[in-house]
Amino acid sequence: MLYISLNQTGKAESVERLFHFVGGIAGPWTVTGTKSVIGESLRAVERLAIVGGGTDLPQGGDWVLRGVVSNERYVTHQEREALRATQAGLGREHSVLAALIPIRKSPAWWALAQDERRIIVEEQSRHIHMGMKYLPAIARRLHHCRDLGEPFDFLTWFEYAAADASAFEELVGLLRLTEEWKYVDREVDVRLIRA
Ligand code: HEM
Repeated sequence: MLYISLNQTGKAESVERLFHFVGGIAGPWTVTGTKSVIGESLRAVERLAIVGGGTDLPQGGDWVLRGVVSNERYVTHQEREALRATQAGLGREHSVLAALIPIRKSPAWWALAQDERRIIVEEQSRHIHMGMKYLPAIARRLHHCRDLGEPFDFLTWFEYAAADASAFEELVGLLRLTEEWKYVDREVDVRLIRA
């Protein structure tokens, strides 16, 4: 699933949106831990492959989670500019560690209006403000999957260097204490190292 996006210089380019996360015995990422934070866990697997598009999925997968990179819902113009100026892309050579954190939010969350959700995400929880402090050390990609009928609403993916592992733990710990996380009713934390 390709779409036309404007890059940072305003030029149109074709970008892959759909990603499959295949947990099984194949892929460049070795799984070092799988735990439930809340709700049902995922089956522990040996390896993870991330496949852009929908074809040629590796064989022997125990589970496949799908997500789509989408437009932002909550950032203000100013926040978006600040993020673009600081964030790093995936696939950096020194980013040998990664986390896949699939998250589902409760019916109470989805019953809220957009402006109410923004207040919880940022004015109350400081998700964007706090997260920004960990850039560019942590590279991230957010995938939406609620409208695909998947078991999670989001697949969050992070890559970082071994030297930034404790900073990442700190951020995850802080986010889990926020008002926003009171609406998380399923969360699995999968940690990986590049083979
Ligand atoms: C590394 C620093 C981080 C930054 C800069 C960051 C930034 C953001 C931003 C800007 C959004 C909103 C996108 C939009 O406008 O739609 C967002 C959404 C989200 N982030 Fe983070 N984040 C970070 C870390 C994390 C971590 C560690 C987790 C998981 C433990 C996480 C989970 C999520 C989820 C689930 C959403 C979707 C929320 C929703 O739409 O309801 N983020 N993040």
